Amino acid sequence: MNHFKEAAKTWDTPQKKDRNLAIAQSIASHLKNDQSYKLMDFGCGTGLLAEALRKLVSIEKLVGVDPVEEMIQEFSAKFKDVPDAEGLSLNIETEELPGTQGEFDLVVSAMAFHHLQGPLVVLKKLKNHLSCDGKIFVVDLDQEDGSFHLEPQKMGVHHFGFSKEDRDLWCEKAGFKTVTHEAVFEISKNDRVYPVIMSVYSV
Ligand SMILES: C[S@@+](CC[C@H](N)C(=O)[O-])C[C@H]1O[C@@H](n2cnc3c(N)ncnc32)[C@H](O)[C@@H]1O
Repeated sequence: MNHFKEAAKTWDTPQKKDRNLAIAQSIASHLKNDQSYKLMDFGCGTGLLAEALRKLVSIEKLVGVDPVEEMIQEFSAKFKDVPDAEGLSLNIETEELPGTQGEFDLVVSAMAFHHLQGPLVVLKKLKNHLSCDGKIFVVDLDQEDGSFHLEPQKMGVHHFGFSKEDRDLWCEKAGFKTVTHEAVFEISKNDRVYPVIMSVYSV
């Protein structure tokens, strides 16, 4: 996690803001205008996705979860004037999320799942915190050849993106009713283009 500790203060670049805005617009296209949502941003980093989403849909409660304290400090600073916004520095792979089960209408996650050792186990844990008609939006790289991160080990990368088969299997094994997939962004890097896919899991 050292990489993210060091990166937290300078994380918010125009490129990352544009990416998260595009992702937020895709998420918002699945949501209702007349509903207010209880939202968890999982692997929130500094909170760029939640920040973009708040401009598009009504959020009545916001929780950011990330194991890196320095990221959560940036998240908390960003939302210091927002009532019912909270940053939690914890690792869901080794710790339990506090709070009651069924409390979130939405869990969103951008570019964090490839850092998890056990994405399926985490998805099951997150599902327990969803309301009865809740949704989880997992946004991450399509399966790639390992060239996206220059130093994958140093950056805590456990997966080179995910295939449609991976994402469909999680739906079945975690007991979601449906999953849909769509391409929401492309990251140009190392003279390559890496598609970013959004999978929407519904209970
Ligand atoms: C590529 S960054 C994305 C941050 C943010 N979602 C964004 O798009 O700007 C990956 C984030 O996942 C977090 N992360 C790593 N391991 C995690 C875990 N076990 N649970 C939750 N988040 C984790 C990192 O600390 C980092 O903030």
